[in-house]
Amino acid sequence: MQGIGVCVFDAYGTLFDVSAAARDLAGEPGREAFAEVWQQVASDWRLKQLQYSWLRAVTGEHCDFWQVTQDGLDWALERAGVPDPDLREALLGLYWRLAAYPEVPAMLSRLKSAGLATAILSNGSPDMLHGAVGSAGLGPMLDDVLSVEDVGIFKPARAVYDLVGKRFSCEPSDVLFVSSNGWDAASAASYGFRTLWVNRAGDPVDRLPGRPGHVARDLTGIPALLGID
Ligand code: LAC
Repeated sequence: MQGIGVCVFDAYGTLFDVSAAARDLAGEPGREAFAEVWQQVASDWRLKQLQYSWLRAVTGEHCDFWQVTQDGLDWALERAGVPDPDLREALLGLYWRLAAYPEVPAMLSRLKSAGLATAILSNGSPDMLHGAVGSAGLGPMLDDVLSVEDVGIFKPARAVYDLVGKRFSCEPSDVLFVSSNGWDAASAASYGFRTLWVNRAGDPVDRLPGRPGHVARDLTGIPALLGID
């Protein structure tokens, strides 16, 4: 892929492994009730978190991602019949100290050593993102961490994708945008970014006007895709 100067990443599920954190918590002693339902809780939590973000974007009732993260979890815990305040706190705490997927540090280092600009563009609030970036040790490999809080609306509103051009003084076609969310990759492609959908789960492609330009199972092949391996 020629002409890419900026590589921009979604955060949760793309760089940071949210589901591993919930799975690890389910394996702790004393969490037997949660261990029975953790997969359903994790799936409902993510779905509601995203639904609430889209609904609040459509209705203009913006709040930050920390609020929709809490609201989605409360719905998921009640549905699973485990509305336990201690479990709630433990699950929310995970968001502040997430691990990166194993391939992330080497991949980002390679992009930096080849002279590319790198950034996160995420729904996450600045506090949440800085917590996760710090705990995963990714700060030195990123030029910036861009949050939707700068525009007050969630992805896939175009005002969010505009943040990249404003920050890096570049055209959409100079940007490779990488997301594990099919809807985010599709919307970024409609916007004009070059796109990579990280389809970790082997899901079908989203039926949206934009189609991701590239699809991969993880982030390992990004330097090769950019011709810098
Ligand atoms: C983000 C969510 C959508 O990081 O994964 O923006």
